[in-house]
Amino acid sequence: MQSAKPNSDEEDQLFRLLRQVDRASDVSQRALAAGIGVSLGRLNALLKSATDARLVRISDRNGPDKRQRFTYTLTSRGEAEKIRLTDRFLARKFAEYDALHAELTGTTSNLVPLKHRTIMMENNLAPISELYVSHDSAEKMKFEAAQLPSWDLTARQVCDLELLMNGGFNPLKGFLSQEDYEGVVENMRLADGSLWPMPITLDVPKSFAESVEIGQDIALRDPEGVILAVMSVTDNWAPDKAREAEKVFGADDLAHPAVNYLHNTAGEFYLGGPIIGIQQPMHYDFRARRNTPNELRAYFRKMGWRKVVAFQTRNPLHRAHQELTFRAAKEAQANLLIHPVVGLTKPGDIDHFTRVRCYEAVLDQYPASTTSMSLLNLAMRMAGPREAVWHGLIRKNHGCTHFIVGRDHAGPGNNSQGEDFYGPYDAQDLFRTHEEEMGIKMVDFKHMVYVQDRAQYEPADEIADKDDVTILNISGTELRRRLSEGLEIPEWFSFPAVVEELRRTRPPRAQQGFTVFFTGFSGSGKSTIANALMVKLMEMGGRPTTLLDGDLVRKNLSSELGFSKEHRDLNIRRIGYVASEITKNGGIAICAPIAPYASTRRAVREEIEQFGAFLEVHVATSIEECERRDRKGLYKLAREGKIKEFTGISDPYDVPENPELRIETENTDVDNCAHQVLLKLESMGLIAA
Ligand code: PPS
Repeated sequence: MQSAKPNSDEEDQLFRLLRQVDRASDVSQRALAAGIGVSLGRLNALLKSATDARLVRISDRNGPDKRQRFTYTLTSRGEAEKIRLTDRFLARKFAEYDALHAELTGTTSNLVPLKHRTIMMENNLAPISELYVSHDSAEKMKFEAAQLPSWDLTARQVCDLELLMNGGFNPLKGFLSQEDYEGVVENMRLADGSLWPMPITLDVPKSFAESVEIGQDIALRDPEGVILAVMSVTDNWAPDKAREAEKVFGADDLAHPAVNYLHNTAGEFYLGGPIIGIQQPMHYDFRARRNTPNELRAYFRKMGWRKVVAFQTRNPLHRAHQELTFRAAKEAQANLLIHPVVGLTKPGDIDHFTRVRCYEAVLDQYPASTTSMSLLNLAMRMAGPREAVWHGLIRKNHGCTHFIVGRDHAGPGNNSQGEDFYGPYDAQDLFRTHEEEMGIKMVDFKHMVYVQDRAQYEPADEIADKDDVTILNISGTELRRRLSEGLEIPEWFSFPAVVEELRRTRPPRAQQGFTVFFTGFSGSGKSTIANALMVKLMEMGGRPTTLLDGDLVRKNLSSELGFSKEHRDLNIRRIGYVASEITKNGGIAICAPIAPYASTRRAVREEIEQFGAFLEVHVATSIEECERRDRKGLYKLAREGKIKEFTGISDPYDVPENPELRIETENTDVDNCAHQVLLKLESMGLIAA
């Protein structure tokens, strides 16, 4: 293992060594030294560090000539390192030439910066380089890697790693080094000049970053602990996240899902370095529909498809999309690849299981001989223009020649001022600027709308007689509203099979799961009202109902916890987790803990709202009244100091600012309190009138 980053002379010599070894493995040491331009002593030192770093394998050779005792071969790690150093060598030479040109002529060379050779690949069908080692090496490496310090990848990192390893992120050879990262953030270019718009970084917490040394290898594992790859750490740094947000996503605004992820989910440090792929992440769903770039390239070769236009989507296909894809294929005179993202999309999107069933339901609307569908395990960032360029490069790597960019491509929704982050056609503009360099052509589309009079879809801005015809359109928000209220979705908008699938996943609100979350002081009446509510809901029937009462949870889920802030948070998080699972599966969860902290209640709300409605009910009985009632005798003990950290007496309670419902209990009976909750549920459409 290397102990420090080599300087550029050493790097140069190592690069020459790896090239020589790759070219001819059985030369004598003398010839090898001459080829590299170093002394025999220096060659020995180089060979030692290269073998220590497991870049070169030395084996004995039987033969009469003792001057040629050894053969030298590159290991798979050595091959990966050779590719990386080749890129760096060429980039250095380019910079030197540029500087010399400037010195001699006083002008810049005007040469186009170096692009990675794979970008310049002549056609879209030749195999693309992957980062996997051979099956035998993988078996060996898996065993060796088990001894290494290891990092359990996050869901996003697993997606990124898969596309790094299978060539989908070509020309990247690993998670970005700091130098590449700076270039990508600043001007969408890697250090060698290649176009790359998205930082692909391995974010880790500070504690892990501090435990890793430069030059060290780490095993990258999936969430189940399976080793997928080994990464040689070359860089370890704390990024300026605000700057990354500004430059890459256009604003440091938490309303952008990727900026929110950057600040609130991603670790504080980034590790960079080349990776060696051992195995691809396991997918148990839709296996036959998932293809690596090389599998797609091979498929296009086999089918004789020379031009392929890719359609990227994170939504179900409706009729407008079908029309758009038909038009694109016709315009480009190309075959069509429907290439939906099934990794991570925008929070709140329809899950990929439902979407793929929807795609499958409409595939027979496309001619089988000209259209194909494949799933892409990409973790989207919703970065609009930059994302469009990124998507184009990824499709190019998958063998496509054309790429559809529509209105507001990969748009993240509104910013915190309620305005769009990007202009509707910014993505098309940026793509157009880089189209030639990327080697994939854009098929741009304007917004498609339905013209009722002609019973067909047309691009909105090409309708000459728009004042004389009826134009229909259903937005994503309107579609969601109709689904949640069980309203009609017309045939001109979508296919019956798609609507049926969507209705199965998103039943009307009155059939969806939800959570009622009571909060208030001990003795405020939370449990009593919650019990009454549960009985009323069970009387109505239809959905399984579970009560997670404060006392009951403390007995069954959190018996080891006390009442410190940390323990209370943990307790509420557990309740939130169970409630989110109940909600996800279509049940009703009624929770009744004190839950004194607003931040924890907010976190629980966010967790549950992914799956269904969250109704916060503040049982607003005053502390004086609770103390007067003192049903359990705890307030007396708290006043005497016999119970510490007692909420309202010696511990804080954040009064909810905007609960869905606030109940005064002092002059209201329990039945009426429960009834108020029922009325609120009804007004939210959660129970049928
Ligand atoms: S928390 O803060 O939400 O985790 O509390 P919770 O789990 O709801 O508390 C359940 C019951 O524990 C009793 N108890 C205390 N409450 C507050 N502070 C202190 N220090 C404390 N010690 C014990 C209290 O009776 C709670 O019962 P409820 O159901 O709220 O009356």
